[in-house]
Amino acid sequence: VDSSIDLVAEIARLKKEKNAVILAHYYQTGDIQDIADFVGDSLALSQQAAKTDADIIVFAGVHFMAETAKILSPSKKVLIPDMNAGCSLADSCKAEDFAEFLKNYPDHTVISYVNTTADVKALTDIVCTSSNAVQIVQSLPADAKIVFGPDRNLGSYIKNLTGRDMVIWDGACHVHEEFSLERILELKKEHPNAKILAHPECKKPILLVADHVGSTAELLKFSITDDAQEYIVATETGIIHQMHKSNPDKVFIPAPPLDSTCGCNNCNFMKLITLKKLYNTLLYEMPEVVVDEEVSRKAVRSIKAMLDISA
Ligand code: 13P
Ligand code: SF4
Repeated sequence: VDSSIDLVAEIARLKKEKNAVILAHYYQTGDIQDIADFVGDSLALSQQAAKTDADIIVFAGVHFMAETAKILSPSKKVLIPDMNAGCSLADSCKAEDFAEFLKNYPDHTVISYVNTTADVKALTDIVCTSSNAVQIVQSLPADAKIVFGPDRNLGSYIKNLTGRDMVIWDGACHVHEEFSLERILELKKEHPNAKILAHPECKKPILLVADHVGSTAELLKFSITDDAQEYIVATETGIIHQMHKSNPDKVFIPAPPLDSTCGCNNCNFMKLITLKKLYNTLLYEMPEVVVDEEVSRKAVRSIKAMLDISA
């Protein structure tokens, strides 16, 4: 890219010219969130992808999110600025292994978190996100036997809340697993009035000390409606951009990981997306996300089942 190019202006021009829409997750950097047409959590982004009338969807997020958009809008061109933007949680559940695992539970309903590959969604009855997981589990009959994958922390949290019969896959997200309870409690001592906000992908001890647990969208909403002035935020740091924008007078402190120097409360996959890559993606219309037709046909049922319940 020519360094004299005004990336923000060029992205806006190309977007208009090509009837493209930019969807961005809350974990993107602030500059990307600010030029997006829509910023949201996984659920809201999938709802947007299902209803947009743009010809091109540029997904500023990770691969499973773009893949979900493609499955919901197969006739649209779906682009992702960096194909390597994966997800350690999705990687912790390979479709072949999941299929083997499911053989042990033939009479179970399979609920999979949206942070999975299309192949895993094709093995799933109903997808869920962290925003609607309780609602999806409770939509099943009280005696339903459930397999929940792949996040063990979200799974245990939901199992505890609902008391349902759930078998949980042993997967996790490398960002949320790294938060240190000890360091969060040290911070809390320095900021006794700060409330702790945590994403349900965090480990149980962190969820137990949290004042509020929820998806990124729920944590953002809580930060707006709640009356505290300070918050310790135990999820990926990108959400703090929106929290600041919505609450300019409040203080948001990123929860620390065990190793304070690693910066691992940032998702290295999410942060692969840059303005420069976004510009090139729009300009050259690549890389394009494609999903095998047969896989897509199976996966769309479990995603639509979720959207019907959360409509
Ligand atoms: P949300 O459901 O809050 O968007 O979470 C997505 C995610 O990747 C969490 O790590
Ligand atoms: Fe995946 Fe974790 Fe990154 Fe979310 S924060 S995209 S779960 S690796």
